[in-house]
Amino acid sequence: MSDIIPGPKGLPLIGNSLDMWQDRDMPLRGLERLADLYGPIYQAVLGGRRVLVCSSANLMHELTDEKRFAKIPPPTVASGPRPKGLFLARNEDPDWAQGHRILMPVFAPLAVQDMFHEMKDIANQLVLSWARKGSDHRILATEDYTKLTLDTIALCTMGYRFNSFYTESQHPFIEAMNFIFTENTARTTRPGVVTKLMYRTNAQYDHSQSVLREVGQKIIDDRRANPVDKKDVLNTMIYGKDPKTGLVMRDELIMEQMLTFLIAGHETTSGLLSFTTMYLLKHPATYLKAQKEIDEVLGTRSIEASDISKLKYLTAVLREAARLQPTVPVLQKEVAPELASGPVLLDSGRYQVLPEDRIILLMSKSQRDPTVWGEDANDFNPDRMLDENFDRISAEYPSAWKPFGNGKRACIGRAFAWQESLLVLAMLLQNFDIKLDDPNYNLVVKQALTVKPDNFYIRVTPRTHLH
Ligand code: HEM
Repeated sequence: MSDIIPGPKGLPLIGNSLDMWQDRDMPLRGLERLADLYGPIYQAVLGGRRVLVCSSANLMHELTDEKRFAKIPPPTVASGPRPKGLFLARNEDPDWAQGHRILMPVFAPLAVQDMFHEMKDIANQLVLSWARKGSDHRILATEDYTKLTLDTIALCTMGYRFNSFYTESQHPFIEAMNFIFTENTARTTRPGVVTKLMYRTNAQYDHSQSVLREVGQKIIDDRRANPVDKKDVLNTMIYGKDPKTGLVMRDELIMEQMLTFLIAGHETTSGLLSFTTMYLLKHPATYLKAQKEIDEVLGTRSIEASDISKLKYLTAVLREAARLQPTVPVLQKEVAPELASGPVLLDSGRYQVLPEDRIILLMSKSQRDPTVWGEDANDFNPDRMLDENFDRISAEYPSAWKPFGNGKRACIGRAFAWQESLLVLAMLLQNFDIKLDDPNYNLVVKQALTVKPDNFYIRVTPRTHLH
């Protein structure tokens, strides 16, 4: 006999939607609040389905077992006639396997190193833009990081320039994307029948989808009209053959992959840069140590690809920020389809998971488990992430730090995001003294597609001279 999983009592039809109502702008907070009340595993009925919400390192470890559990793509986006890009496809979708085989090599660490100069081109645009603003101007860091990361992913993977630093307003792509993802998040907790009746919202949703596809189509059309002899991601998708089947990717799938990269590849990294900057500014001793490392490695010369691996302390800072604030804060799982005929046991055999259950893995909490990280698990302490400590913890608890997901569905852009983040932070620390606009700034996390610090304003003063 298995135990009954604890959780709030639900109501007929709407399940536990009311329990989440007070946090409707930020469902993540609602899930975390209930975890504080009911413990590391609880059940609730959301969107008409039983949901098991897990938040300990142990449960995280069990859920990364790909023999028992499989990824569920975000539910509302996954339906519809279009093919699914890598992020949204189910494991058994042949499009996922084809995309994975064709695209993995172009995102491998060595291939990403070849993108260094294009990454640096955009990072330079950010540095110049901040230098010109001067120290009297307050800067909404999250917004500038979003410009940077969108421009970087588009240039490095598709040779396309959004030129976000040369335009006043945000690109319509970003507006459309934000709308779609805020709405997707809302749909996970709102009863489906209510969504059906929201005609204006649904019309705006469809319009936003077409904005994204127009941008994607323009990029593909431009490339077909002006072919370049380059082994970038876009060319790999247009001309690359699946090593297993010898087939090329069809156009409508290329479009979905491109949108996936533009979306998955920028908000996440922008959030990581924002949180890392925020932690550095809230911890002046860490800031000075990180800046000292940059000064020792780079001095006043311009950064090169080979410098990235020398930034040991900055790497630890990034790891710690990604632990405390994973910008993809939840993973969703279900019983692996191969085991769909019966329940699967969870929590060392204590509870039963049914094939129809949705499992939400709250990484924002599981990565703060004191059994792994100790009593100061909630504190920002990069020293615990220096290579020797990080390797020891990873050996003992292989699933304790998983901001890039796990197994075959882990992030394809991890090396890309990591190189970009180290490069950008190194250039900013080298070129500026950065301060909080409000020294008493207290972190408020805002959730849309990913999570980010809200109202995060900074001021920057150029150091000696620009590189
Ligand atoms: C998958 C996080 C940057 C593209 C994932 C997953 C996580 C993640 C947690 C697994 C999601 C799941 O299991 O449902 C992050 C973080 C990033 C980042 C924290 C930055 C700090 C990027 C970049 C790209 C990217 C730069 C650009 C290509 C993808 C794709 C997938 C994915 C395509 C799906 C892979 C698959 O299922 O085959 N990411 N990501 N991500 N990420 Fe990232």
